[in-house]
Amino acid sequence: MQKQMSELDLRVKSNMEKIKHKIVVMSGKGGVGKSTVSTNIAYGLALKGYKVGIVDADLHGPNVALMLGQEGKKLPTFEPISLLDGNLKVVSLSFFLGSSDDPIIWRGPAKIGAINQLLGDVIWGELDYLVVDLPPGTGDEPLTIAQSIGKADGSVIVTTPQDVAILDSRKSVKFSRLVNLPILGVVENMSGFVCPHCGERIDIFKTGGGEKAANELGVEFLGKIPMNPSIVNAGDSGKPYIASEEKNAAHDAINDIINKLVEKTQK
Ligand SMILES: Nc1ncnc2c1ncn2[C@@H]1O[C@H](COP(=O)(O)OP(=O)(O)O)[C@@H](O)[C@H]1O
Ligand SMILES: [Mg+2]
Repeated sequence: MQKQMSELDLRVKSNMEKIKHKIVVMSGKGGVGKSTVSTNIAYGLALKGYKVGIVDADLHGPNVALMLGQEGKKLPTFEPISLLDGNLKVVSLSFFLGSSDDPIIWRGPAKIGAINQLLGDVIWGELDYLVVDLPPGTGDEPLTIAQSIGKADGSVIVTTPQDVAILDSRKSVKFSRLVNLPILGVVENMSGFVCPHCGERIDIFKTGGGEKAANELGVEFLGKIPMNPSIVNAGDSGKPYIASEEKNAAHDAINDIINKLVEKTQK
């Protein structure tokens, strides 16, 4: 028997139908760079002139607001914060709640409701892209997003190169397949570090694991982003690294990933 749609479900559906492309950023492990990758993709797409929304669906560890310089902001209505001349719309649950130091202590149904409100009650309007930044793993938030977002272009799975992270990212690949979310590709982040003093490359978390896993799993490899302290500073200062003028392997890699996503989603 078909479940009857609630009014919120209907608002989610109608909102999601107005968005042309949806990119869901996920990983098996925390701290691998999902929020960094999501904010850079969203910002980069908006810099190219696309109308972009980014929603922070990491209810327990929301970082999108900080990484886009909006930490501590509160929204009186469901109108998102608008950046880059209106090309980038930003929404985090933290915009609607109390202090950003307060933990969210919610059971599954409350989280599912909150995610659906972020999709259905926020006034997203017509967008070219919606980028979703997920928490790690395959719990309530990824499942709700997968079920509610409607037709999506797919997931971007972020991993670091070492075996423990790869093992977890395989789960994200399988999860995407199980919930019929196409896989746009795998990003290997924190892939090596080039010493700024001597130029020697040190593979702190090894290198190549993400690419190997992508090949084995039959999904596209989108690129390797090296470790770079400027990425940390950019995130902490609220201006994504893609907006910087730096020319190096990390900047090129992020740029290439965005271009590949445009190519894959616009074809
Ligand atoms: N390529 C990178 N080089 C250096 N630091 C990075 C890189 N990618 C992410 N970071 C930093 O690592 C930390 C965790 O990244 P984050 O995007 O918050 O991970 P996640 O969302 O997966 O938990 C942040 O401080 C971020 O600035
Ligand atoms: Mg995060």
